[in-house]
Amino acid sequence: MQNDTIKARGLQIYREVLVQLNAIHIDHLERKWIGISILIISLLVGIITLDAFFHGVNPPSKVETIDSASLHLSKEFAEENLGVQIDDKGNVVVRMVAGRYSFFPKHIDVPAETPITFRWVSMDVVHGVHIPMTNMSTMIVPGYVAEITTSFPKPGEYPLLCNEYCGLGHNHMWSNISVIEKEQWTSKQNAPASAPKGGSANE
Ligand code: CUA
Repeated sequence: MQNDTIKARGLQIYREVLVQLNAIHIDHLERKWIGISILIISLLVGIITLDAFFHGVNPPSKVETIDSASLHLSKEFAEENLGVQIDDKGNVVVRMVAGRYSFFPKHIDVPAETPITFRWVSMDVVHGVHIPMTNMSTMIVPGYVAEITTSFPKPGEYPLLCNEYCGLGHNHMWSNISVIEKEQWTSKQNAPASAPKGGSANE
């Protein structure tokens, strides 16, 4: 039978490889480190797999497209809709545009200890955004919307850095976010003086 001969041949090769491997002298210490390396790799692959399946941590590639050339005409990323807003479900949503060489709006205030959904688009070339000490790190590819939800455990000033080379001004492309105590942020948003006109962040 064809199948049996293939199986037998496979088994034979496997045995031969084992014999060969045993014949090679591998130092005890080396053997130990080979084991440790395999263990570390398995652990990392395991973590990535678990995160992907159980925590929904995926590359930001849910393929939501947008026309980068006409962002200012789009409903979502027109200038007056940028920045922090509260959607109809009460979630905090931040919309930002990356362009050579800044992030717009230049500065935003967000609450601490609150899940915040960031939606990023690029108006020109590929940029990246990285906020140290958070899980925020993504490429911003023109033509696509990059969405990431994160939260800031502690109030403070957080830098926003471009981490994809985008031109001569790349190393000056940064901005910052003020993370404010949860309670203070809410009261500030509800204050009539700072309430944005067209946004949905009203009472
Ligand atoms: Cu934008 Cu580098």
